[in-house]
Amino acid sequence: MQKKQKKKKKDKPKWGSIDKYGDKVYNLHPGQSRVITSKVRFTAAIAGTGGGKTVIGPLWLANRIRTLLEEGVTEGMIGMVIAPTYKILSRATVPTLIETFKGTELEGRFLESKGQYILPNNMGKLYLLSADNPDGLEGGQLDIGAWLDEAGQMSERSWLALCRRTGVNEAPIFITTTPYLVNWLKLEFLDRYLEGDEDYFAEIWSSIANPAYPKKEYERARRTLTKATFEMMYGGMFGSLEGMVYPDFASCICEPHSPIGMQVGGIDFGWRAPFCALHGILYVEDGRDILYIDKERYQTKTPLKVHRKFLSKDFVWFADPAEPDSIQDLRSFGFRIRPARNEVLTGVEAVNARILTNRLQISQSCVNLIKEAGVYKYPDKESDAETENPIKGMDHAMDALRYICLSIVRKNKVNKRARVIIRNKE
Ligand SMILES: Nc1ncnc2c1ncn2[C@@H]1O[C@H](COP(=O)(O)OP(=O)(O)OP(=O)(O)O)[C@@H](O)[C@H]1O
Ligand SMILES: [Mg+2]
Repeated sequence: MQKKQKKKKKDKPKWGSIDKYGDKVYNLHPGQSRVITSKVRFTAAIAGTGGGKTVIGPLWLANRIRTLLEEGVTEGMIGMVIAPTYKILSRATVPTLIETFKGTELEGRFLESKGQYILPNNMGKLYLLSADNPDGLEGGQLDIGAWLDEAGQMSERSWLALCRRTGVNEAPIFITTTPYLVNWLKLEFLDRYLEGDEDYFAEIWSSIANPAYPKKEYERARRTLTKATFEMMYGGMFGSLEGMVYPDFASCICEPHSPIGMQVGGIDFGWRAPFCALHGILYVEDGRDILYIDKERYQTKTPLKVHRKFLSKDFVWFADPAEPDSIQDLRSFGFRIRPARNEVLTGVEAVNARILTNRLQISQSCVNLIKEAGVYKYPDKESDAETENPIKGMDHAMDALRYICLSIVRKNKVNKRARVIIRNKE
């Protein structure tokens, strides 16, 4: 028995262990190996959650720096590391970069306030940016190239801005991401690769391609999620548009901006399932009313008294009518909050009407809203679902969005029957 345990421990992959020369060694799995050795301009690792995406970004940068050194560039190299939001950048992407370079010839200085990583020996620097700060993505040319973590949540505009920035030097772009929506990453990247465009390379793998990913957790997800959600989140597969509630949602994703208008919000209460509050601004442009969702709050197991501190009292909030106590609680603290209209299919129609008439904008910083929209589906025709409503589960931001869109629809209240009389000639 003891022998068996020992063997198991020995087999466990040692990621980033130090060898006898003091070098850090990473044994990549096959998918990781194929993307990291890709030599084309645009490369993407599209994989399930925990599949080992973020950890290969710094390794790719290290390879790029080595290539430039071999080409004779010794100073002033410029590269970029981008995540969709500041939160993802500061909590996952940058710490992974710092940890990977630590104790190696690439260990430099992280200047947090400047958002830069200074490489040693005047080699150059890496700009550390979030795509929800669109100004940072313009100007200057890169030679190292750019690593985009979770690029599937970025807008097409951010992607095009990065293509421009890397254009002059034809510097490569390396993407590590989970698929979220059928968006530019699928249509302008993966499909181009599949059609044989030689500037593109993509590799797809599931969470368990990573030898360190727990199989039990993978199986739990397979058991509890719908097939479409599981395949997208753990399989790294883009879902089909069939059965999607908001098939054109990707067209709404935009860079953050600050229109002036009425502040409206939607709240779906939750404890084990996430509490979701969406902030919206309803503004008029060219005579059309546009709803712009600029921020989200999305958290589990947090008491309402904590959420309260983060919600603005300047808003008109529309909340889940099934939770009158929570609504009353917020009201007693001075919030302008009303029970939302909650007819599911009418709400879905109101959201789709906005999407299809370009009157809904979603900031790319609303990552959970975008994630949910990617897996929000109607039940299969063959399924024994009892309603025609979309499948419940990952739909908290979906509900909050529905509440806003339906509750701001102005009803034309006509109490009397209208009568129109057109007089005769005399
Ligand atoms: N080839 C590998 N062999 C062993 N361990 C690995 C390998 N690839 C990744 N890991 C380990 O798996 C863990 C998850 O990796 P990583 O954070 O890159 O996953 P991810 O796909 O970015 O996850 P997320 O979906 O949460 O962003 C890390 O702790 C890393 O050390
Ligand atoms: Mg990651």
